[in-house]
This record gives sequence, structure tokens and C-alpha cells, in this order.
Amino acid sequence: MNPKKLITYAKNAQNYAKAKYSNYPVGAALLTKDGVVVKGCNIESKAYPTTLCAERVAIFSAIAQGFNNFKALALITNDGAFPCGSCRQIIYEYTDNILIYIGQNNDKKILEVHINDLLPNPFGK
Ligand code: THU
Repeated sequence: MNPKKLITYAKNAQNYAKAKYSNYPVGAALLTKDGVVVKGCNIESKAYPTTLCAERVAIFSAIAQGFNNFKALALITNDGAFPCGSCRQIIYEYTDNILIYIGQNNDKKILEVHINDLLPNPFGK
């Protein structure tokens, strides 16, 4: 699947974000090696630290559905943000140096980066 298509899935997931505290919806789409796409969005809580990021929702959801091998992860935000530190750790631990597509609403450009470049000297190597 090309990056643009996977970003489209992430954009769809972004619509489901529960982001009323930050007003910063994030969408993620995780492509499994079987070609299945598992979506994630950020889900915020009144108890703020309980919030979960879109990337981890996608990865945890995929694992819970029995998927353990992944090809790519697409991420979409309003400003083209990269995954936070906690998500980098989980992406590193549960994927095999996956390729991440970084998209931005209202901008066609898609950046591509490997998790190993986002998390040098990872914990648990
Ligand atoms: N967020 C994500 O979903 N992914 C990230 O990698 C960084 C931050 C969410 C958490 C929170 O709901 C909102 O963005 C603002 O921090």
C-alpha cells in the first residue's frame, strides 16, 4: 500500500479522536504484514494522564486482535508532528524497525522515517 493511501486511513481515524481537552486530533493507521489496516486515534480523559495517543491505540488494538507483524504506520496531525517519546518506545518494541509516514492536514507532503532513526539507543535493546 502506498503512503498516500495509508495516510487516508489515518485521516479517517483522526475524525474519531476524542480530543476535547487539547483540541489536537491525531489519527494513526497501522498496516499489518497481512495487508490489514488497524486504525487508532487519540483518546483523552478528564483524568489527563490517562489519555492515550493514536499510535499506541493502533498498536495495542492490533496486538489485541492477534496481529504481531507490521509493515508501516501512518500518522496524521494538524502540524505534521512526529510520535511522542512513549509511542516511540512502543513502536520500537513491537515492530521490526517499521517505516513511519508522517502526514499533515492541508499539506500533501508525506515524510518517511524509520523508528530506529527516531529512537537511537533504545531501552531494551
Ligand atoms: N498525541 C498523540 O496522539 N500522539 C503523539 O505522538 C503525541 C500526542 C495526542 C495526545 C493528546 O491527546 C494530544 O495529542 C495532545 O498532546
